[in-house]
Amino acid sequence: MNAESRARLNQTPEWTALARHREKLGEVQLRELFAADPTRGTAYTLQVGDLHIDYSKHLVTEETLTLLRELAAATDVFGLRDAMFRGEKINTTEDRAVLHTALRAPRDAVIEVDGENVVPAVHAVLDKMSAFSQKVRSGEWTGHTGKRIKNVVNIGIGGSDLGPAMAYEALRAFTDRDLTVRFVSNVDGADLHEAVRDLDAAETLFIIASKTFTTIETITNATSARDWLLTELKAGQDAVAKHFVALSTNAEKVSEFGIDTANMFEFWDWVGGRYSYDSAIGLSLMIAIGPGRFREMLDGFHLVDEHFRTAPAESNVPLLLGLLGIWYGNFHDAQSHAVLPYSHYLSKFTAYLQQLDMESNGKYVDRAGQEVDWQTGPVVWGTPGTNGQHAYYQLIHQGTKLIPADFIGFARPVADLLPGLIAQHDLLMANFFAQTQALAFGKTPDEVRAEGVAEELVPHKTFKGNHPTTTILAKELTPSVLGQLIALYEHKVFVQGAVWNIDSFDQWGVELGKVLAKRVEPALTEGAEVPDLDGSTTALVAKYRDLRGR
Ligand code: F6P
Repeated sequence: MNAESRARLNQTPEWTALARHREKLGEVQLRELFAADPTRGTAYTLQVGDLHIDYSKHLVTEETLTLLRELAAATDVFGLRDAMFRGEKINTTEDRAVLHTALRAPRDAVIEVDGENVVPAVHAVLDKMSAFSQKVRSGEWTGHTGKRIKNVVNIGIGGSDLGPAMAYEALRAFTDRDLTVRFVSNVDGADLHEAVRDLDAAETLFIIASKTFTTIETITNATSARDWLLTELKAGQDAVAKHFVALSTNAEKVSEFGIDTANMFEFWDWVGGRYSYDSAIGLSLMIAIGPGRFREMLDGFHLVDEHFRTAPAESNVPLLLGLLGIWYGNFHDAQSHAVLPYSHYLSKFTAYLQQLDMESNGKYVDRAGQEVDWQTGPVVWGTPGTNGQHAYYQLIHQGTKLIPADFIGFARPVADLLPGLIAQHDLLMANFFAQTQALAFGKTPDEVRAEGVAEELVPHKTFKGNHPTTTILAKELTPSVLGQLIALYEHKVFVQGAVWNIDSFDQWGVELGKVLAKRVEPALTEGAEVPDLDGSTTALVAKYRDLRGR
C-alpha cells in the first residue's frame, strides 16, 4: 500500500480494535498474567542469533500480540521492508534508497540500486579500509616525520561520531591497547583541545568523518586540527597527506579541504548518517579492533538483517519490539523509552540509539506530508546499570509515568578484566534481574505490612509494579553481538516508522537550527545587525556580547 492510498492510521479497523482491546484489558496486572500462565516466563521469549529476548514482562496477552501483528499487516510493514532490501527509494523526501543492509552483505550478494549491484563497491571500500588499518596497526603507515602512528582522532558529529565512538567503547576489550583513539564532535573548542593537548602530533592521525563534508562543526574542527598539526610539526601543507584521511561521499569537498582523495574512504547517499558506522565511517573502529573483528561485527549485523527479512511475524524480533513500543506509545500514552544496558562497555549505547531512533522517528507529518494525529517516536534515554539505579530509577519504580524499558545484560564479563574483578559480574547481574522483577511485580501493601512496617509508611514502601520491560540477554559482548544488537534496534525503528507511515530516513528537523546559527553568528562576532531577529534573541545576544567583553 503506498503512502497516498493509505487510510489514516487511527481510522483503520486494526487500530480501533487495539484501542478497544486496551480498554477491555484495563489495568491488567503482570502478577495476574503470570499466575494465569505458569509457562509465561519461557513461552514469551524469542531467540535471534546470540540474543535471548524475554518479553514476558509486558502488559500483553496473546490477543494483544495478534492485534498488533494485524496492525503491522494492515500497514504493510513487511512490504516496505522488502522494498528497502530491494534497494527501492523508500526515503521519498530525499529520493534515496535505504541500504545500510548492503554494507554488511556477504561478498557474493547482489543488491541493486538503479540497476547497479552495489555489493562489489561496498567490499572494495572494506578491502581498502582493511589494508589501511593493517598499515596503521603494524606501524607501516608513518607520519610526516617518519614516526609510527600511536594516536587516532576521529573528527565527526552525529552519525559520523556516535556510532564509532559507541562501538569503540563497547569493544574496548578487543582494541589494540597501544593505540590511543579519541573522538571529537563538539564545535566547542574544548573538545578538540582536550583530545589533542597531550598528544604528539607526529604520532597522530586525524580521520575526518563527514558524509556531506559540509557539516560546519566537523569542517571547523578539522581546520583547527590541521592548524594544530602544522604548527606542532612546524611543517607545510605537504604534511597533511600522512596525517589526514577522509570518510565521505563528497570527493570534491574532500580535495578542496586538502586531503588527497587517494586517502578518502567512500560511501554512498543510500547510507543514512545514523546508519553509517558499519560503512567507511567505522574506520577508526576498524583500526582499533582490526579488520577481522570488524568483519565479525558486520556478520552480526547481517545475521539480524536476514532474520528481519525472513522470519515470520510471530517470531520476528524487530517486529515484536517495534510493535510493543507502539502498544505503549499509542495505546498507553507512554512518552519515553528507557534503554538500560548492564555493561559499562555500553556506556555510549543509549546516546547512539537516541540519534538512531529520535532522528529517524521524530516526525509529525506522514509520508504523504499530512500531519499525523497519533504519537510517533518516543524520547529515548538511559545510562548503564547499576549507576542509574542510584539516580533516576526511583521515578520509574514509584513515579507517575509509564516508562517501558529494555534491560540488556551479558552472562559473562569481558574476558580481559582483572581476575579479581570477574566475580563482580554476578553482583551486577543480580541487580539486572532484581530490577526487572521489582518493576514487574512490585510489592503490595500487605507484603509491606507483613514486614512489620508502620502503617503510615506503608504507602511509601509500596511498589505498584506493572512496569513493562524487555530483557535482552547474551552470553558475552563480542563484536558480532554488538552488530546484532544495533541491527535489532535499526529494524525496530524501521517497523515503527512503517506503522506510523513516516519517512524514518530523512532529518529535515535539524536544518532550521543550522541556518539560524549561520545568521546569528555575525551578530556575536562583529555585532552585525541581524534583520528580523526576535526580541528575546536580540536581548540575549546583547547580554552575551557584554559578558564576552565586546
Ligand atoms: O544532524 C544532522 C546530520 O545530518 C546527521 O543526520 C548526520 O549524521 C550528521 O548531521 C553529520 O553529517 P555529516 O556526516 O554529513 O557531517
